[in-house]
Amino acid sequence: MIVCKSAREIEIMKRSGKVVADVLDLLRDAVRPGVTPRQLDQAAENYLKKVGAIPSFKNYNGYPATLCVSPNEVVVHGIPNDDPLEEGDIVSLDMGAVVDGYHADAARTYPVGKISAEKARLIEVTRESFFEAMKYCRTGYRISDVSNAVQVYCEARGYSLVRVLTGHGVGRHLHEDPEIPNFGKPGRGPRIQEGMTLAVEPMVNMGTYFVKTADDGWTVSTCDGKPSAHYENSIAIVDGEPLILTLNR
Ligand code: MF3
Ligand code: CO
Repeated sequence: MIVCKSAREIEIMKRSGKVVADVLDLLRDAVRPGVTPRQLDQAAENYLKKVGAIPSFKNYNGYPATLCVSPNEVVVHGIPNDDPLEEGDIVSLDMGAVVDGYHADAARTYPVGKISAEKARLIEVTRESFFEAMKYCRTGYRISDVSNAVQVYCEARGYSLVRVLTGHGVGRHLHEDPEIPNFGKPGRGPRIQEGMTLAVEPMVNMGTYFVKTADDGWTVSTCDGKPSAHYENSIAIVDGEPLILTLNR
């Protein structure tokens, strides 16, 4: 069941969205050679505590942290550990926060120091594919038009789209209907409606789209060991158009 939100509810989600955007901005500057995923998680947790927001992920199905930290070939759901990030790595950071009962969820992939042109391009295309998707997050289109836009954009540039993980509705719950795959034929699935709140999140691999989950039950990595990037924002459909809730400026 897809739950569309009232203007009042969207006002609240703007506030949770701003908190998430602020944390991801803050972490952009914290990401540098030598910093550990646990330090980044701690910084995120401290910030949420300071502004009185609740982490969405901590204890969600037993997830043990505030932040997901996913370096290089890790696609998503990396559990923060004490392995320092190294120059030339890329790292995906994913976080959700609850304010007054409403979640917002977003992710970015950042460079660690100086990175190869190849990795920089992966990050860039992943981000661009989200904005390509925004062209279809409007009343008059359907969910799979969004999915298809991401797929066509990324595959045309030589990348693959993870199949087994999707975007999702977001609101009172971190994960709501509908599922938003990052691949598929256009013209299918639910129609985009006023008041829908959606987390659109391309997960883009440099090599194969096949992924595997580690024994910890969380860490999802590419099967070929090649890098993966992630870019996610929570959005609301307002006046028929996408309003991005988790992006500053
Ligand atoms: N941000 C992820 C998503 O979009 C959620 C992470 S799963 C968790 O689905 F368990 F870590 F919360
Ligand atoms: Co999400």
